[in-house]
Amino acid sequence: MGKLIQGIRGFNDILCEATSTWRFVETTVCEILDSYGYEEIRLPVVEKTALFARVIGEVTDIVEKEMYTFEDRNGESFTLRPEGTAGCVRACLQHGLLHKGQPRVWYSGPMFRYERPQKGRYRQFHQIGAEVFGAPGPDIDAEMILMTGRMLRSLGLVDLQLQINSLGTPQARASYREQLVSYFRRHHEQLDEDAQRRLHTNPLRILDSKSPAMQGLIAAAPSILEHLDAASKTHIEQITAILDTAGIPYTLNPRLVRGLDYYTRTVFEWTTERLGAQGTVCAGGRYDGLIEQIGGPPTPAIGFATGIERLVALAAADHAPSEPTLHAYLVVVGEEAVAPAYRLAERLRDCLPRLRLRVNSGGGSFKSQFKRADRSGARYALIFAAEELASTCVSVKDLRERTEQRRLSEADLVVLLAECIAR
Ligand code: HAM
Repeated sequence: MGKLIQGIRGFNDILCEATSTWRFVETTVCEILDSYGYEEIRLPVVEKTALFARVIGEVTDIVEKEMYTFEDRNGESFTLRPEGTAGCVRACLQHGLLHKGQPRVWYSGPMFRYERPQKGRYRQFHQIGAEVFGAPGPDIDAEMILMTGRMLRSLGLVDLQLQINSLGTPQARASYREQLVSYFRRHHEQLDEDAQRRLHTNPLRILDSKSPAMQGLIAAAPSILEHLDAASKTHIEQITAILDTAGIPYTLNPRLVRGLDYYTRTVFEWTTERLGAQGTVCAGGRYDGLIEQIGGPPTPAIGFATGIERLVALAAADHAPSEPTLHAYLVVVGEEAVAPAYRLAERLRDCLPRLRLRVNSGGGSFKSQFKRADRSGARYALIFAAEELASTCVSVKDLRERTEQRRLSEADLVVLLAECIAR
């Protein structure tokens, strides 16, 4: 026998016992996006490498060291998408959607980053994200934050913290960047190796460092909120006024900088302490300059994405699927019962579209089939053998309550199963 080939590190199988929580999370989030007037868009998982380099930024961790990039048979460089915004902007530009009012779109699916796998951080992970084009805010910024808050509450997650910051305009950020660089230069000896490298490439990211030894230095660094241009200052004040009125608590965190380069003004993150180091559950912000920068018309834009694995990890603790996986398992005894059993099963499915019914496959004695029925987790075993065939009835055994077996007409069986589905 050959050696079993294992899956790839950081690429997870999502096994059957987890998929009901996945579906619950995905359905809840998608329904809320629909309810706020967003429309679904479906995008490829592979794009030209140049798109990500231009959109996300050449000196980000993602582009520098985390992309799955390969050449196709023609020698063209492609990349498995590390996030959804780049492809979404590309598609909306390419199909002229930006001329059609203010598109609000959402997407979902796998993303790929070559990061060190750990709890809550994987190399293939899943996001649901959304983007709004053509709306300058601050009203839409606040509404997006309210919407993400509603999504999390609908999943039963009420203990998350909301952090907000403004990165200002590119001009204001450039002047803040100079001040920050000169501050860190003055304390050069306290910078770790990564921060020393970032000082020259992306100094704002030093504020995001998790290194315990640098926390004092970071806390005392100049605050971006004190270097905002007047319009960005009013913008963030108007957002917080809407959040205050809506009663949504938040922290203004001047050290929230995000790992992608495209942001201007508003950035936000919902975080938790329950997931260790990977505590950001949902994150996003405004990127007003990006579309023009990649060749489109000047278009303000804002978006967010949420990591499904992280939502599932949090929701799984609270959301134990209460319904049985199967409502019924049909035990079919004897060759002559097989064809009528399938006819019965199809009729039951016609009457009860939400019925979850498994028909025994591959024969077997009554005893062995009954054991399979029990192991399947079904609520009822339906027994169809010569006797039932002759009397056009079905015997029913409640596998959970362990009550006496009963013989029911097909009509009564439909009523019983309908009650089970409705429960
Ligand atoms: P991001 O912060 O890179 O933003 O990712 C958004 C969310 O995806 C994170 O908060 C986290 O929940 C999840 N996530 C990211 N990396 C991993 C990973 N390796 N394993 C598991 N989950 C992960 C973006 O991707 C932006 N495109 C969001 C956005 C949309 N901004 C504007 N529009």
